[in-house]
Amino acid sequence: MARNKISIIGAGNVGATCAHWLVKKEIADIVLVDIVDGLAAGKALDMFEASPVEGYDVKLTGTTDYVETANSDVVIITSGLARKPGMSRDDLLKKNLEIVSSVTKSVVEHSPNAILIVVSNPLDAMVYAAYKASGFDHTKVLGMAGILDTARYRSFIAEALNISVTDIQALLLGGHGDDMVPLPRYTTVSGIPVTELLPTDKLDAIVDRARKGGIEIVNLLKTGSAFYAPGAGAAEMAEAILKDKKRVLPCCVYADKEYGIGGYFVGLPIILGENGVEKVIELDLNADEKALLDESVNHVKELIGQVDAIGV
Ligand code: NAI
Ligand code: 2OP
Repeated sequence: MARNKISIIGAGNVGATCAHWLVKKEIADIVLVDIVDGLAAGKALDMFEASPVEGYDVKLTGTTDYVETANSDVVIITSGLARKPGMSRDDLLKKNLEIVSSVTKSVVEHSPNAILIVVSNPLDAMVYAAYKASGFDHTKVLGMAGILDTARYRSFIAEALNISVTDIQALLLGGHGDDMVPLPRYTTVSGIPVTELLPTDKLDAIVDRARKGGIEIVNLLKTGSAFYAPGAGAAEMAEAILKDKKRVLPCCVYADKEYGIGGYFVGLPIILGENGVEKVIELDLNADEKALLDESVNHVKELIGQVDAIGV
């Protein structure tokens, strides 16, 4: 049986780090693509030369040419500008729209059956742009953000309780912005509601820090944004798809009737498997949660309006 193939567009911080997490999983050969000549080739070669030390057997290709991406099973789109201090994710929209639209068109020309995972920001708007530019069914185009946002939230809870990060299960809804909606009511520590283990003020502070997790890293790095955790999030989604794991994960997906969203891409819990988005899971939100989700969706709608005005 031919090996699976994952192409990663953009061999910058997130793209290269995602490849780095993926090679250790040995689930596919990897093609890194970047517009900068030699960048993807250099990183792919370097990662290949690490393989005898780390013990992975993965074919790594770095290129500027989409021909090498032909027949990819999964394509992860990370190309685009990253924000710097003083910038919001939304400030990236115009330039990244141009980049995401053009790379998506090149990707689908060579991989008409791939599942697309978008990472570029502003995330929810870029997933919509990739969906429009690809012409793919909406179940095959999704975005990575919820895994990152939830991972931040889970890390901070584990730290506050001084327990293993692996025992925190959590969910989060909404767009990838500071108005994302963590759900303490659906957060457990090996099944124990987190609300029984942490006082409300501490939990509120953690929710607030998770919502602002992106800018916390930007302000520390000063030259760009987070990439280890985002790269890991995209790798986890690719693995769920290629192994048909039917993982329940928060991803940016198309929703119409679900939650009354009305036909937008936004972060929701889904079942992720070989067919891409296999189901959007609907939770019975209380009035406060619903209000927060509506606010976040309204923000996403504004960004989509900008994408439609410019065009893909
Ligand atoms: P980076 O600047 O390190 O890498 C971006 C790469 O894209 C560069 O190597 C650049 O040459 C390449 N690129 C630009 N135009 C291209 C084109 N037309 N074709 C191919 N490659 C092209 O940036 P980084 O840190 O990797 O971030 C990438 C994107 O991901 C940014 O938009 C950032 O905001 C976003 N991001 C999203 C996250 C999420 O949770 N969804 C988390 C972290 C970053
Ligand atoms: C983050 O949340 C930059 O969106 C990215 O770190």
